[in-house]
This record gives sequence, C-alpha cells and structure tokens, in this order.
Amino acid sequence: MTDRTEPKESAESADLLDAGERLGRDELRALQLERLLTTLRHAYDNVGFYRESFDKAGLRPEDCRSLEDLARFPFTAKADLRDNYPFGMFAVDQSRVRRIHASSGTTGRPTVVGYTDRDLDTWADVVARSIRAAGGRPGHKVHVAYGYGLFTGGLGAHYGAERLGCTVVPASGGMTARQVQLIQDFRPEIIMVTPSYMLTLLDEFERQGVDPRSTSLKVGIFGAEPWTEEMRREIEERFAIDAVDIYGLSEVMGPGVAQECLETKDGLHIWEDHFYPEVVDPFTGEVLPDGEEGELVFTSLTKEAMPVIRYRTRDLTRLLPGTARVFRRMEKVTGRSDDMIILRGVNLFPTQIEEIVLRTPGVAPHFQLRLTREGRMDALTVRAEAREGVSPEQRQAAALGIAAAVKDGIGVSVTVEVVDPETLERSVGKIKRIVDLR
Ligand code: DLL
Repeated sequence: MTDRTEPKESAESADLLDAGERLGRDELRALQLERLLTTLRHAYDNVGFYRESFDKAGLRPEDCRSLEDLARFPFTAKADLRDNYPFGMFAVDQSRVRRIHASSGTTGRPTVVGYTDRDLDTWADVVARSIRAAGGRPGHKVHVAYGYGLFTGGLGAHYGAERLGCTVVPASGGMTARQVQLIQDFRPEIIMVTPSYMLTLLDEFERQGVDPRSTSLKVGIFGAEPWTEEMRREIEERFAIDAVDIYGLSEVMGPGVAQECLETKDGLHIWEDHFYPEVVDPFTGEVLPDGEEGELVFTSLTKEAMPVIRYRTRDLTRLLPGTARVFRRMEKVTGRSDDMIILRGVNLFPTQIEEIVLRTPGVAPHFQLRLTREGRMDALTVRAEAREGVSPEQRQAAALGIAAAVKDGIGVSVTVEVVDPETLERSVGKIKRIVDLR
C-alpha cells in the first residue's frame, strides 16, 4: 500500500491507452464479431477436431451471425486437448509454430499449446497492457519470479515487460534467498509472482532481518492461482505495496488474458479484443447473463497457431461491466470447479478457508486442507500455522475461532489444527492447498 492520499495516475488522463483500449463499446463488439468469424473459419478449415465437432452440431462457421450465436457452437474441454496430444489442435503448419508451452495438470499427458510469431507478438502486447494497467511504466524494473520453462508464467511476463519498455530481471521461481538479495540490490519497482510464493519471500525477508516494507517494490502483479481480498490486504500491508490480480491460462494464451487496474482494484478487465468471454452454468452449459456466477468459457479472437472455441476453463467467476476500461471485468476467481470440496453435501472452496484463516489473529497466512474418510463420511482438517511467539492459549482460541467461522459461514464442521510456525510446506510457484488422503 503506497501512500493512499496520493492520487493514482489514471491511464486515461496520462493518455497511455492503446488503440484497443480506446474503442467504444459498439466498435468493440463489431471488432469482436469480425474476429470471431475469422477464428471460426480458421479453426474449421484447419483443425480436424473443430471440423468434426461443428459438423456433428450441424453448424458452419458462417452460421454465426452475431456474438450471441456463438452459444450455438460446441464447447471445447481440456480432455479434447489431451486427446489431440501433442499437436492435433494446431491450425498452422508446424514450421510456423515458433514456440510451445505445456501445462502439466494433475494426471497423465500435459496440455500442449503453440504460438506463431504473430501470437507471440499479441501475447507480449496484452501482457504489456496488463503491466501498464497495474501501474508499470517504461523504465521500471520488473522482477519476474514466475517459473520459466514450459509454464507460461515466466516467459509470458518476461516478453510483456520488455514490450512495455521495462527492464526485466528473469529470476524465475526458487532459490528464495537469492531472490531477496536481487530485490535489494537491483531495486525493482514491480514484482510478478504467485501470491503464495510472495509469502515465501516474505518469510525469507524476515529470516534475513530485512524489513519487507523497506524495499523498492511499489506494485505486485499476482496470479496463476486463486487469492482473496484478505490475502491482498496481508501482502499490501506486510510489503507496503499495491497488489493487483493477473489472470490467464495456457490454453487461451498464458498470463495477460485479464488484469486488474491499479486505479480501481475492482476485478479484472478481460482483454476482450483478443479473448471473448462467456459464463455458463457448469452443469447445463447454458449461457448465463452478465452478473451471474458460473464457469468461465473463452473463445480466442486473434490466435493463429491454436485457436480455441468455447474453451471451458472450469474457473468460477462472473462478468461485470467495465470501469477503468471499456472491456468487461471478471470478478476475482472463487476457485476451479475441480478444487471444489463437497463435504457432507456442502460445497466449499479453498478461497473460503483462506478468507477465514487470514482474518484470524495469531495464525500466519499459511494453511493446508487435508481430506480424509471416516467410515463413509469425508472429513476435512484445516491445518493453519501459528504466528511466532503465540501462546498455547492463543493457538487454542485461533483453532476454535476458525472452526466456528467455518461452521457459521460455510455451514459444515471441520477439524482445525494450529501447527508450529514454519512447519507447513512453502510454495515455490502455484500452491497446492488440498491434500487428498481418501
Ligand atoms: O497459470 C497462467 C498465468 C501465469 C496466469 C502467471 C497468471 C500469472 P496455467 O498454468 O495454464 O496458466 O493455469 C491456468 O490457473 O485456469 C486458473 O485456474 C488459475 N489461475 C490463473 N490466474 C489466476 C488468477 C497460468 N489470477 C489456471 N486467479 C487457470 C485465480 C488463476 N486463478
């Protein structure tokens, strides 16, 4: 949190917006439709999977006459990408694929994605736009602690920061002590990292006896995993920075599909001139009106190497009107439908536990969820970590407090263990909250 009395520079007044960001809502919709038709045609003509799935639905690309017509087209799921492993979803000749990324997922084959030169260019542009929306300016130093490699986080952030005219420090993930050293010595204004790894860095600053509030950092651009307003408050206070959210997924591009603006911090503007969002009922697949929560679905509008049509992200959120930009916003992601725990008939997301743990005095912002089976019933144990110097009575009170808040707020009984400081595993990238012992 920088000085709150100092007004935030608005991108508009600074005349910094790019051509896409200056479109009016009607111009945007016209551009989206034009790009959508090109994308449907490109996918149909060049990817066997799309030709088959459109044919099966009795549809041709030209049957899409309005943005609403897109809802008639079939979905694409992660399994479809896996079934076409490795390159079956590519729509261009392999010689035009300039780069490949892959996301490991939890089981089996990775999901492979490809980019042409133009795709890489678009990607750098949208990430540059994201960093600018977060307050980044040419000349700033950007410490990138997202992992480099097949994961899209590191390289995606990297080229976007270069595109904006920043100086990039390609730290990647891990070697935490060195990260702290680099931040002190190179004095970056911006850090891009998962929120959970930012907490690992926080511990390391404290271990080295360096005040985390004393660094050169002004803004953190956090994403790749769900995080809550409580986590924002924690990170902003402990580091004296502004924390904003960046969203994306490999199948659609990587980081930079949507970004929260520094001046409003009110959810993430989706870069809708490149990625067309829908929110659908996760069970029926029916398109929901803006404002209603459901599963986010994306259709790429400008991608060449691997266009995606109605890709089901499994991320739960809702669409909201634009504020700081013409584009619609998505609310901070509650979680993935895959990460939803169903406990004795009650649906529960790790982010709901995060909110409670981070509001509880005496515990650190580290927690883990253990699922076990007792007879025919599933049971959940929330393991939270005591802060340094907290008495056994305070720990007991914290455990009771968390259990009561879960019972009252979510409506289900859980066991809570408040463990010793520094006992829970720390994140080096995306954190895994759920340990399933069933
Ligand atoms: O995580 C891309 C990325 C890198 C985004 C760096 C932001 C920053 P994947 O590995 O394919 O790509 O994982 C995508 O991560 O479907 C969400 O479930 C989750 N996710 C990404 N960003 C956010 C976010 C990258 N800001 C999956 N909030 C997505 C919540 C997020 N979940």
